[in-house]
Amino acid sequence: MQLPNYREAKTRDKREYQTHSYHLLEKYKKKYEGKTYFLKTYGCQMNEHDSENIMGILEEMGFRFVDSMEDADLILLNTCSIRENAHNKAFGFLGRIKHLKETKKDLMVGLCGCMAQEEVVANTIKEKYPWLTFVIGTHNFYQLPEVLEEALKTKTLQIEVYSREQDLIEKMPSNRKSKYKAYVNIIYGCDKFCTYCIVPYTRGRQRSRKKEDILKEIESLVKEGYQEVTLLGQNVNAYGKDLYDNYSLAELLTDVSKTKIKRIRFMTSHPWDFTNEMIDVIAKYDNIMPSIHLPVQSGSNRILKLMGRRYTKEEYLTLFHKMKEKIKNCAISTDIIVGFPGETEEDFEETLDLVKTCKYDNAFTFLYSPRVGTPAAKLEDNVSKEEKEARLYRLNDLVNTYFLENNKKLVGKTIPVLVEGKSLKKKGEYFGYSDTQKLVNFTSDKDYEGEIVPVLITDAKTWSLDGKVSRS
Ligand code: 5AD
Ligand code: SF4
Repeated sequence: MQLPNYREAKTRDKREYQTHSYHLLEKYKKKYEGKTYFLKTYGCQMNEHDSENIMGILEEMGFRFVDSMEDADLILLNTCSIRENAHNKAFGFLGRIKHLKETKKDLMVGLCGCMAQEEVVANTIKEKYPWLTFVIGTHNFYQLPEVLEEALKTKTLQIEVYSREQDLIEKMPSNRKSKYKAYVNIIYGCDKFCTYCIVPYTRGRQRSRKKEDILKEIESLVKEGYQEVTLLGQNVNAYGKDLYDNYSLAELLTDVSKTKIKRIRFMTSHPWDFTNEMIDVIAKYDNIMPSIHLPVQSGSNRILKLMGRRYTKEEYLTLFHKMKEKIKNCAISTDIIVGFPGETEEDFEETLDLVKTCKYDNAFTFLYSPRVGTPAAKLEDNVSKEEKEARLYRLNDLVNTYFLENNKKLVGKTIPVLVEGKSLKKKGEYFGYSDTQKLVNFTSDKDYEGEIVPVLITDAKTWSLDGKVSRS
């Protein structure tokens, strides 16, 4: 049994990482033929992509996916730690599984992902949920076959969570959700340690994948017919810093652009690491989408400092305007936290002012949630729950007006849309995403699923656009 430990998890050193190729031992191949699994994923794109890998591994082991947990022999939860409500949802789900387990004694239940890396969670599971089969962490989920085998052999809960990051594992099988859009990890972990954030503890030190491995993966996705890749990392703009002297996200984007993949996206960016070269590269290549997720978190310099964000509102705005100026039709989205400890009405109004200046195309807004073990959790939280909720409401009202305003500017224009599927409700209606990551519902006489087609925008809503294919 290995339980997580935050003191170790936050250690940062200069150890060099080895890269290993994933390989499922012969004895596990198809071992579980005839057995079924159900996987529930919480959280960000990184977790969604980990789940694609986990599904790939389970299917090599012979498990078959079912979409109802009642029909499954194995239920797996890939969890998220970022805010309290993600926790509550996962524990609520475990409560439902417990009932099922009472009538189905052989049911196997596993928990993986970020919550597994939390000291409090691992201890709670050990004490209150001994009926689980196994818990594995973010750094070693590829060891699922061995951990499951040990749990079944010993008939005891196996908790195998490494506090420290491990070497990089390449060539993991992946059961990708989409045939057109793929996630590609470029960097793992985060070294920024924003004071509210649990990620540097649950995902470990910043480690970049080798550029050759990334490019090989994308080249084979192109061959398979993929139209779009999203380069993933907690902070993609730090790509290469731990590995190369002169190779950053700017160079990687240039090389990815040359693979001829039709669309390239990347997320998430930290303003601190966003260089002029990166902006120039995004502006230069047509297959790099003019869509940037640039979390600001707060518009108050005092709060930004308490958050440990390493930039001022003025520096953020300079970067923002540079992007808007250099990248044609660039859509910028953001993340904002409301109710950070000590946030005053004046601080909050500075956030509203910043939103009025930036007029974001999209914004993810959150109530601050204290995470045990982070520095901010020790600050005195003197903003009442009612006040925080009222601020979130006011903020959402404001951001929504700009979503609609920006969308309305597209009415009458023809924009490229990657067609993802057809409407289940209406015949002849399809949906997809524009270059600037807007959801477009449109009519078409022909099914263009998997292709990028020009769509004439006829109407704008707050969270989507309506249109029709303008191809003869
Ligand atoms: N409370 C609320 N929101 C948080 N985020 C990260 N940590 C917390 C927290 N403790 C938000 C940030 C980040 C996004 C992924 O989640 O806005 O950018
Ligand atoms: Fe968390 Fe900050 Fe790292 Fe983002 S950059 S994952 S908010 S510590």
